[in-house]
Amino acid sequence: MDQRWTNVDTYVEEAVLGADPDGDRVLAAQRSAGLPDIAVSRAQGALLSVLARSIGAERAVEFGTLGGYSTLCLARALPPSGQVVTFEIDERHAAVARASLDEAGVGHRVTIRVGPAIDNLVTLAYDEPFDLAFIDADKPHNVHYYEAAMTRMRPGGIVIVDNVVRDGAVADAASTDARVQGSRAVLERVGADPRVEGTVLQTVGSKGYDGLLLATVLD
Ligand SMILES: C[S@@+](CC[C@H](N)C(=O)[O-])C[C@H]1O[C@@H](n2cnc3c(N)ncnc32)[C@H](O)[C@@H]1O
Repeated sequence: MDQRWTNVDTYVEEAVLGADPDGDRVLAAQRSAGLPDIAVSRAQGALLSVLARSIGAERAVEFGTLGGYSTLCLARALPPSGQVVTFEIDERHAAVARASLDEAGVGHRVTIRVGPAIDNLVTLAYDEPFDLAFIDADKPHNVHYYEAAMTRMRPGGIVIVDNVVRDGAVADAASTDARVQGSRAVLERVGADPRVEGTVLQTVGSKGYDGLLLATVLD
């Protein structure tokens, strides 16, 4: 990883993002519980917040909670009545997230559904439409989570899929990595889907070289 990418993330945290004691506590709790260090970066978490506020999001769905860092970024960008429904397969991750989100004062805005997201997707069918979907769980299932979210997205809503560039491997059609093929499947689905306008933003930073798929839902 290029040291400049980390230097710029650090500078952006100081110059643009400012102090975030709640976010720091969520990440510290995640670390001390031994959870993997695979949350979005602070700059990317702030992007989720900016996007949620930009579209006046009130309801968000997330695939992949981990320790609740991206969930926090989404939950605090919503109005007081806002709701995040987040899917997490690992009970321990969900418990860490629950405690951290409660401590940060946003727990009442967050429902954590524990178990394989695929099995729990049926619960989406009974809820209100979503304004924002953030897909960041097991990458081979990206396209299934995209299709599930799209059944409940409102026009003008936004779908965000994390880690789609995978150090550039997404451009390799012959890749045998199921995560790369998961990225390719969702990118190609979005490209062929007349319900959305999408793009991919390549990113570098403290988490390496990767990228986000962004798709806005058309009327
Ligand atoms: C990259 S981490 C999520 C990071 C989190 N969005 C953040 O930025 O703070 C992926 C999470 O998805 C969870 N996960 C993996 N497979 C899953 C599945 N089939 N259903 C639900 N969650 C799953 C993992 O346990 C892990 O906590």
